[in-house]
Amino acid sequence: MAEPLILQTAGLTAGYGEIQVLWGIDLAVVRGEITALIGSNGAGKTTLMRTLSGLIPVRGGHILSDGRDLTGAGAAALLAHGIVHVPEGRRLFGAMSVEENLLMGAYARKAGRAEIRRDLDRVYTTFPRLRERRNQQAATLSGGEQQMCAIGRGLMSAPLLLMIDELSLGLSPLLVEQLVDALRVLNRDGTSILLVEQDVTIALDLCHRAFVMDMGRIVREGSGQELLADPIVRDAYLGVLHE
Ligand SMILES: Nc1ncnc2c1ncn2[C@@H]1O[C@H](COP(=O)(O)OP(=O)(O)O)[C@@H](O)[C@H]1O
Ligand SMILES: [Mg+2]
Repeated sequence: MAEPLILQTAGLTAGYGEIQVLWGIDLAVVRGEITALIGSNGAGKTTLMRTLSGLIPVRGGHILSDGRDLTGAGAAALLAHGIVHVPEGRRLFGAMSVEENLLMGAYARKAGRAEIRRDLDRVYTTFPRLRERRNQQAATLSGGEQQMCAIGRGLMSAPLLLMIDELSLGLSPLLVEQLVDALRVLNRDGTSILLVEQDVTIALDLCHRAFVMDMGRIVREGSGQELLADPIVRDAYLGVLHE
């Protein structure tokens, strides 16, 4: 039977130079689910994603995925395993076309041309705007289209787990709605997602389970519905006072 946890961390610590940011993170992401990570600015969400994708080193604890210990595996090995990070700010190659950016996502795969074509077609089906603009320079895309392209590039890496940092940042409500719908479809079709989203209502509404981070620690976890009803979460992150 397949391991139900696609990602698990135990006592994960990490930081930058002298600064420790993560203080023993226990995270569990169930295969086939959307897991949300919420918390105020500076809580350590991006640092956690960077650690999970090998961009910054693990200092203590473990990263397990699909029954394998990937602690210290390095960015290339984590990507090859399928831990795929769509970074905050999208980081596209601005001078390259949409399609070239998408194909960059498949760069490290050992897949054949037909398989890559099929996955590219799936990205275009998910985001028809990208098909229309496939020959356009990425730098000329709107913010929402850039986010579609960044997510599409992530999908081209054949993710076991797609990690998206700040889905909605700087985007109009209509575009955010389109992106949320796209994530629902991708998830329904089997993609496991770890999402950082500053709009807590959107995040908790979309996810199966959520983890709340504060000052480098997980301070709460539960289903989206449980956390939406949690007075402490409502008070701290939804701007709702106790009734
Ligand atoms: N490159 C860096 N060097 C030093 N400190 C950093 C760096 N990036 C982030 N930090 C610090 O780490 C903490 C967590 O930041 P971050 O992971 O970006 O939080 P979040 O994504 O939840 O807003 C903050 O105190 C931030 O100032
Ligand atoms: Mg961040």
